[in-house]
Amino acid sequence: MKRNILITGGAGFIGSHVVRLFVTKYPEYRIINLDKLTYAGNLANLKDIEHAPNYTFVKADICDFETILSLMRQYEVDGIIHLAAESHVDRSIRDPFTFARTNVMGTLSLLEAARRCWESRPERFEGKLFYHISTDEVYGALELTRPEGIKPPFSTTASSAEHHLAYGEEFFLETTKYNPHSPYSASKASSDHFVRAYHDTYGMPTLVTNCSNNYGPYQFPEKLIPLFINNIRHRRPLPVYGKGENVRDWLYVEDHARAIDLIFHRGKVAETYNIGGFNEWKNIDLIKVVIRTVDRLLGRHEGEDMKLITFVTDRAGHDLRYAIDSSKLQRELGWEPSLQFEEGIEKTVRWYLDNQAWMDNITSGDYEKYYDEMYKNR
Ligand code: NAD
Ligand code: DAU
Repeated sequence: MKRNILITGGAGFIGSHVVRLFVTKYPEYRIINLDKLTYAGNLANLKDIEHAPNYTFVKADICDFETILSLMRQYEVDGIIHLAAESHVDRSIRDPFTFARTNVMGTLSLLEAARRCWESRPERFEGKLFYHISTDEVYGALELTRPEGIKPPFSTTASSAEHHLAYGEEFFLETTKYNPHSPYSASKASSDHFVRAYHDTYGMPTLVTNCSNNYGPYQFPEKLIPLFINNIRHRRPLPVYGKGENVRDWLYVEDHARAIDLIFHRGKVAETYNIGGFNEWKNIDLIKVVIRTVDRLLGRHEGEDMKLITFVTDRAGHDLRYAIDSSKLQRELGWEPSLQFEEGIEKTVRWYLDNQAWMDNITSGDYEKYYDEMYKNR
């Protein structure tokens, strides 16, 4: 079936994997990648598919309502996968306005453009879908409930029931009440509410998914894993916030993209699905794995760069633990992460080491100034 799918934020980290998957897997679809190309948007992430006949790139701001509406009409968009956002928690602490503008007002502008565009057609919302990509951070923070001595990671394929029974742990469920703490998560929570409000008020077919921390190729090196891989390579300090005790639940980005594909095609309208790999790591343990992997792949003494670990002032309001229960998605749509963490991290480190030009392009120039300002006082 022919479809015209608008993917927002497709030049970013996760968006570029979603665009690549859709462009290559569905030659019959037209994929329109709409991105403002902020500091985080990088067309180099899509070099391999930029000339594909079913791919179109449009530089635009999701907050620019008139432009979005006219683009949606021009391309007769019938499906939207909305990833465009300001995504970095530390930046949201320094500049919350930008987060409210893009994440809240931008999402609202897209929703309203979709409503006006679709409602003006005889078939209205039939065959249409507004799919909003959100985060586990909207649920707030969990306590550390894993007993001492249980080594990470848990199996990426075990069912949540086993986790609960074995360790009495708490997870975020789709029914968990929203309790965001950072300006970033507050802005994402607000946008999630707007999306659901457009379903409940106007009957617009919408869907929301909340995913855990992604890792993999093309992630902007302000985020923990690519930042640390690059710093280890250059033997720069590794700024670990607080004591490194915070826990994150890591998912390989291509597994997230596969989940998005599945949910876009088979998910139930108005539903929420959590996406995660049951793969929790304390930051400090994860960092040690990254150090060992980089050292090994660079032919250094494994672990010799542990000395780069530098404990710095904690992030304000730093959420202690995120852990997603994705068993609904596993049960209802049969999705499972395909990669074990060890494989995923090896692939990721290898990619960054093999693509130093991609990294250097970003870390030279303006970003260098940002980095210095961000870390010099810690
Ligand atoms: P990213 O920062 O790498 O990319 C964001 C993209 O959005 C960039 O290409 C940027 O240019 C674009 N963008 C920003 N403002 C825009 C605007 N006003 N108009 C048009 N485009 C704009 O982000 P990411 O890590 O790929 O995250 C993508 C989405 O997934 C976000 O909505 C984020 O909240 C969500 N998410 C991310 C993670 C994660 O671990 N990275 C986990 C769960 C959910
Ligand atoms: O949970 C999903 C979220 O994951 C997404 O919604 C966000 O868009 C994404 O940025 C990510 O948020 P985090 O804040 O968890 O990711 P980050 O890579 O910034 O940090 C991961 C952990 O590592 C976190 O506990 C903070 C810590 N950290 C991070 C950096 C950048 C450090 O200790 N030092 C650092 O320099």
